[in-house]
Amino acid sequence: MRTVRLHDRTFRVLIPAARIEEAIDRLAARINADYAARAAVRPPLLVGVLNGAFMFAAGLAAKIEFHCEVSFVKLSSYEGTDSTGRVRELIGLGSDIEGRDVIVLEDIVDTGRSMEHLLRLLAARRPASVEIATMFFKPGAFAGDFKVKYRALEIGNEFIIGFGLDYNELGRNLKDVYVVEN
Ligand code: IMP
Ligand code: MG
Repeated sequence: MRTVRLHDRTFRVLIPAARIEEAIDRLAARINADYAARAAVRPPLLVGVLNGAFMFAAGLAAKIEFHCEVSFVKLSSYEGTDSTGRVRELIGLGSDIEGRDVIVLEDIVDTGRSMEHLLRLLAARRPASVEIATMFFKPGAFAGDFKVKYRALEIGNEFIIGFGLDYNELGRNLKDVYVVEN
């Protein structure tokens, strides 16, 4: 069993890279089908949420077959292994999103609180549409009042790291996803 030690904890592989890639392939195929017609009129905007979504955004964007813009925002609230519910401000959205089709790319939607906040900030800029694509979704923890249309993989209420996700900033670069062991 492959394990990795980060700070004071040990993690074991939960989802190998090959499964992550297959899930991204399936998601990209859906998004390609859903946006092809609209994209021919005006290229949609992919908005990755930093830091966590950098791996997912890169993997997904490479599989998108229509012309699109790719941009990143930052909105971080997470410390340690529990969702605190605290949210900070939106940094980095340079592009004007008014009238645009926006696809938000997130590493993980847990309770949904940070996404809810981000959706409010985006809505104020009057995009034509906003959908969410997340690499991981925790159905058992989600308490949001919005739709998460594109979910690459669903997981239980466990704390995972790797493929962009961190434990106190370590682990983001790992290509497999790990779950905490203790
Ligand atoms: P939410 O607001 O509860 O949906 O939490 C969203 C943020 O918490 C994510 O963007 C992650 O940064 C972080 N997060 C939630 N669950 C995990 C996890 O299992 N591992 C690492 N980070 C997580
Ligand atoms: Mg995040």
